[in-house]
Amino acid sequence: MSWIKEGELNLLEKLSANVIKAGPMPKHVAFIMDGNRRFARKKHVQRQEGHMQGFNKLAETLRWCLHLSIPEVTVYAFSIENFKRAKDEVDGLMELAKQKFYKLLEERENLEKHGVCIRVLGDLTMLPQDLQQLIAKAVVATRAHNKCFLNVCFAYTSRHEIANAIREMAWGVEQGIIKSSDVSETLLSECLYSNNSPNPDLLIRTSGEVRLSDFLLWQTSHSCLVFQSVLWPEYSFWNLCEAVLQYQFNYRSIQKARDLHREEQARQQVEEDRACVGELLQHHGNGKPAEAQRRQEALSHYTVCREERIQDFLKALKHKRDSFFSELSSQAALA
Ligand code: FPP
Ligand code: MG
Repeated sequence: MSWIKEGELNLLEKLSANVIKAGPMPKHVAFIMDGNRRFARKKHVQRQEGHMQGFNKLAETLRWCLHLSIPEVTVYAFSIENFKRAKDEVDGLMELAKQKFYKLLEERENLEKHGVCIRVLGDLTMLPQDLQQLIAKAVVATRAHNKCFLNVCFAYTSRHEIANAIREMAWGVEQGIIKSSDVSETLLSECLYSNNSPNPDLLIRTSGEVRLSDFLLWQTSHSCLVFQSVLWPEYSFWNLCEAVLQYQFNYRSIQKARDLHREEQARQQVEEDRACVGELLQHHGNGKPAEAQRRQEALSHYTVCREERIQDFLKALKHKRDSFFSELSSQAALA
């Protein structure tokens, strides 16, 4: 099974898709694809078969998303917690991933046709070396594509991602690229693995579980969360439509909460800049208060310098991350 299942919607599905698309559509949908093992038990098949059917459902769902003009999808494919499962299950999931990333490289042309960029979010160093290399090859091969985006969270948890982002900022301070006062909510977001994506508008979890299980905790604070009881391998086009409808019913309040948060972030940044400039002026003016015009000039200068430091840091971070994938990918070419 390919990563994007080919095929058209039937007439009823097409009609429904058009009705739904008349409303506000999510631009980014995240999935916690849960219930593969319960599905396997229900159907009296092997656990691995449940995971295989789970992958097939992902391919089908990506096709529905394309038809619904949803350009970005993020999926929880393997959590760091999943390493604690039985060895044969973990090995089976690694094997499945190897097969699928290998297949992805074989069907590069199809991904190019749809303009699909594949990103893998997580701590790849936890994975077997050959899988790391295959993933890197897939990421490098599709990184110039920009029509739609599939983010596969693999060896991922949100807390691990946030801790890593904090380590990246500490590295930037150590290297003298940024100052500790440059650390902010906005900068932390830029250091997450998901820095290239807008936050998900809609997060869907299947199988009736109503937890986030350490998935995109930072990114979904203003997303519409939809919990559905269907097991992931049984997910249908209609389940997806139902989730999108829930997003549409809640659209106004979601937008309002997001706007408020954005305004609050901007206000906080100005306050923090003012406090830093106030301290600097006091220091240089030997404790005497500076006049209003000098304060304003110093504030503008400070803001420009901060922005330059942050841009330099983000460039260095991007270079570090791109090189990680490029080097792994070229090792695979040599192997
Ligand atoms: C959760 O169901 C599913 C997983 C832990 C694995 C999900 C993986 C796939 C769907 C395959 C994707 C593979 C690639 C390469 C992208 P569960 O095992 O927790 O089932 P349960 O909740 O019924 O126990
Ligand atoms: Mg589960």
